Amino acid sequence: MTKTKVLDDTYGKYSGMTLHEMISYDKIQKRIKEMAADISEDYRGKSPIMIGVLNGSFIFFADLIREMDITAEVDFIKISSYANETRTSGTVRLLKDISCDITGRDIIVVEDIVDSGLSIDFLKRRLQDSQASSVKFASLLIKEYTKLDFDIDYVGFKIPDKFVVGYGLDLAQKMRNLKSIYYLNQEGL
Ligand code: IMP
Ligand code: MG
Repeated sequence: MTKTKVLDDTYGKYSGMTLHEMISYDKIQKRIKEMAADISEDYRGKSPIMIGVLNGSFIFFADLIREMDITAEVDFIKISSYANETRTSGTVRLLKDISCDITGRDIIVVEDIVDSGLSIDFLKRRLQDSQASSVKFASLLIKEYTKLDFDIDYVGFKIPDKFVVGYGLDLAQKMRNLKSIYYLNQEGL
């Protein structure tokens, strides 16, 4: 399996930069099985609505729900917080709202990564004003230094403060289709 990748000319200003594997595909799959087992156990006899946060969570979301052995419904929400390709703008915009009725339902919001915490905070505030019966959060990744005033209920991996790509996560919309999670050498960012 490839542990490093050098970006070719199709990556424009990022060409020549190197990606280093941080979490292998196999390790991700193993952890997702554990997370899915925990969620299935906690929601046994219920039918939660899983809300995927677009775009980054789509691969994690698809793998997670397929490892769960309870009934679940799915929906999506799309938000944006990035001012440029690697830094948050400080404000979150809602680009696409959920389309299902969450009144009286158990909700699990599924994120790819929690970094500054701004996005998840926005989602929490938005959903706590709804009539949902419960709201929990799952994130594949959380950065080590992230400070939140609430807990993420299901976390895959705590990672160092590096910009990561692959397995759904992007740099300028690219690299989402890489199977493993990679970090970029920071100099070029
Ligand atoms: P936050 O609002 O700063 O917590 O960032 C949340 C969103 O920014 C995530 O849902 C990702 O879409 C994106 N993001 C944060 N860190 C990274 C990263 O290292 N790589 C790719 N996307 C990231
Ligand atoms: Mg995201």
